[in-house]
Amino acid sequence: MAEHKNNDQELGKPPIAQAAYDQLAEVYAARIETKPHNAYYERPATLSLLPDVNGKRVLDAGCGPGVYAEILVDLGGEVIAMDANPSMVRLAQARLKNTAQVLLARLDRPLHFLVDESIDIVISPLVMDYIRDWRSVFVEFNRILIPGGLLVFSIEHPMMKYFDHYETSNYYAVEQVSYTWRGFGTPVDVPSYRRSISATINPLIEAGFLIEKVLEPLPTEDFKKNAPEDYEKLCREPCFFFIRCSKPPSSASITGQ
Ligand SMILES: C[S@@+](CC[C@H](N)C(=O)[O-])C[C@H]1O[C@@H](n2cnc3c(N)ncnc32)[C@H](O)[C@@H]1O
Repeated sequence: MAEHKNNDQELGKPPIAQAAYDQLAEVYAARIETKPHNAYYERPATLSLLPDVNGKRVLDAGCGPGVYAEILVDLGGEVIAMDANPSMVRLAQARLKNTAQVLLARLDRPLHFLVDESIDIVISPLVMDYIRDWRSVFVEFNRILIPGGLLVFSIEHPMMKYFDHYETSNYYAVEQVSYTWRGFGTPVDVPSYRRSISATINPLIEAGFLIEKVLEPLPTEDFKKNAPEDYEKLCREPCFFFIRCSKPPSSASITGQ
């Protein structure tokens, strides 16, 4: 397995959801191709925010089992996929064979393996929820993107608390929360961070991005056919939140703190 070694002497604690994804990896890989929330809600929305990727260098940041990376390769992208979880990386490598580079690496560490302005598009679907400090991640994405390059990512919707999804105590805080996933076989408690809408958007602006589109999509007709009850709920209560932003065509470099 290709392992990215960064310059940190000590990586410290594992990513917050590492143990959960150790448990989930196999079944997650097996189910998300057809699981309605992924296949007919999250993925169509993320893909709708992408430009033509043919011939573009794309970083799949937090690739999981490589479902997005495979789609991007099929669309003609030159894909680098990375994930912090060794099981996910193995699954992505098995899926992608040698059609894409797959690296074991953490997004909450500098991306030393990517040089400045070497990537056209970064996608990061459903990954940023597991990272507390967003600014340094976005500064890194900004560094590796070409001028005019795009970042597209999705997260759990910041307002989920208000639909009784999480027990949180303070809307304004970046809070560690936990939710028991029951749609992937044996229930697994998955920890993550939830944050306010301003804490979602301001780190992007501080890192030098221009926000082009915010998406709160409705589930698709395919979702309705496959999961009618969840469809009705999602038509009233959003579950995911999507942002497309770009690095300005010519931008001064911004250093992380
Ligand atoms: C919900 S899965 C999403 C996978 C993929 N993006 C998709 O949509 O199919 C979240 C992924 O984020 C990865 N992840 C969590 N924390 C990470 C970190 N600090 N650095 C890199 N990847 C991380 C997990 O290992 C897991 O594969």
